[in-house]
Amino acid sequence: MANVTVIGAQWGDEGKGKIIDWLSNRADMVVRFQGGNNAGHTIVVGNQTYKLSLLPSGVVQGKRSIIGNGVVVDPWSLLDEIARVGAAGLKITPDILVLAENAVLVLPLHRELDTMREDAASQKIGTTKRGIGPSYEDKVGRRALRAIDLKDVASLPAKIERLLAHHNVLRRGFGHAEVDAAALLAALKDIAPKITPFIGSSWRELDAAKRASKRVLFEGAQAVLLDIDHGTYPFVTSSNTVAGQAAAGSGVGPREIGTVLGIVKSYTTRVGEGPFPTELKDATGEKLGERGHEFGTVTGRKRRCGWFDAVLVRQTVICGGVDGIALTKLDVLDGFAELKVCIGYELDGKKLDYLPADANEQARLKPVYETLEGWSESTQSARSWAQLPPNAIKYVRRVEELIGAPVSLLSTSPDRDDTIMVRDPFIGR
Ligand code: IMP
Repeated sequence: MANVTVIGAQWGDEGKGKIIDWLSNRADMVVRFQGGNNAGHTIVVGNQTYKLSLLPSGVVQGKRSIIGNGVVVDPWSLLDEIARVGAAGLKITPDILVLAENAVLVLPLHRELDTMREDAASQKIGTTKRGIGPSYEDKVGRRALRAIDLKDVASLPAKIERLLAHHNVLRRGFGHAEVDAAALLAALKDIAPKITPFIGSSWRELDAAKRASKRVLFEGAQAVLLDIDHGTYPFVTSSNTVAGQAAAGSGVGPREIGTVLGIVKSYTTRVGEGPFPTELKDATGEKLGERGHEFGTVTGRKRRCGWFDAVLVRQTVICGGVDGIALTKLDVLDGFAELKVCIGYELDGKKLDYLPADANEQARLKPVYETLEGWSESTQSARSWAQLPPNAIKYVRRVEELIGAPVSLLSTSPDRDDTIMVRDPFIGR
């Protein structure tokens, strides 16, 4: 079996877009399986930069691309994105894009609730305010609207009534005006004909792909430390981001997801609130942020930066089911005299080799560092091991050893071609 699943192995923004684009060249089909337009994947091809949010990265290569049932879809945002990439020369037609009929819709009321809650909270999550959490809540609460409902607009008033019975209570509690049911119905009727041509069946598409021996790339968004179960709860997103979700979120069995590639940045970043043991609030952190252009793709927020935390990645390799990693942004570490890597924590005088589940304990962790020699040479745009300085190779080897997973790919610039392949994730060698 030749499928590959890509997941983020830190707090997101590891450079998944570039790696997924690189891999989708070798795939026949690309499938998103969780998250929504909280994701932002940047793909650079020559002098053209594409910023994708909901569209699977396969669209850049013209590959059949599925938005799976595990994704929550803001249909207005999807249409905007289709128009935006269309203006940049990518024509998205139903031949290329399929939206799972059983994917849940994100509505304006979800974005509003996300914003109301964040604005009112004394302890904010730092969400992207795209309505992701509230729409997943409605999915689990069995009152959500789904893509398929746009094919049967006559059924919408009853479904809207059920949904608003819940939301209007919350909105009154926030002192916010109730949702105008007629206006929501009209807005949905307006976009229905534009969305319905894309609606199809994710599981049937994937079954047909399997029968035709096609290679499928499952594209994760966010990352394991933002996973609703395995992340730094409550400072997490509202979906499962681990590799297992690739199966549930698209309609295949767990054995179909293939090799799991975890994307790992050579240092650590986080956007939004929550614990971050190796965070550097000093000139070194600033330097990492400047050199790595660490600003959020979706919200433009400045990302928090810190040294590589091997304890966290070792844990996400285990929980995420990672077989090998793609190590990104090694070039950002060029020119540092020495580099620190976190190899354990101290909590109230005790040593730990894992991230405890309690948020208060996570906030009190003191990192224990190992120091490695840096390198003065440039690794930028290196395309083979031979072009890397010996200390950069030592850094990569030490990372592999500490996290318990081998490097499959090494990325040395945002450009598609600046990639060193150690073993092909599609064939495992
Ligand atoms: P939400 O997904 O908008 O609910 O946000 C929850 C948390 O996940 C916040 O800390 C966000 O900053 C973070 N988050 C959501 N999507 C991404 C992403 O694509 N990259 C990095 N962080 C993200």
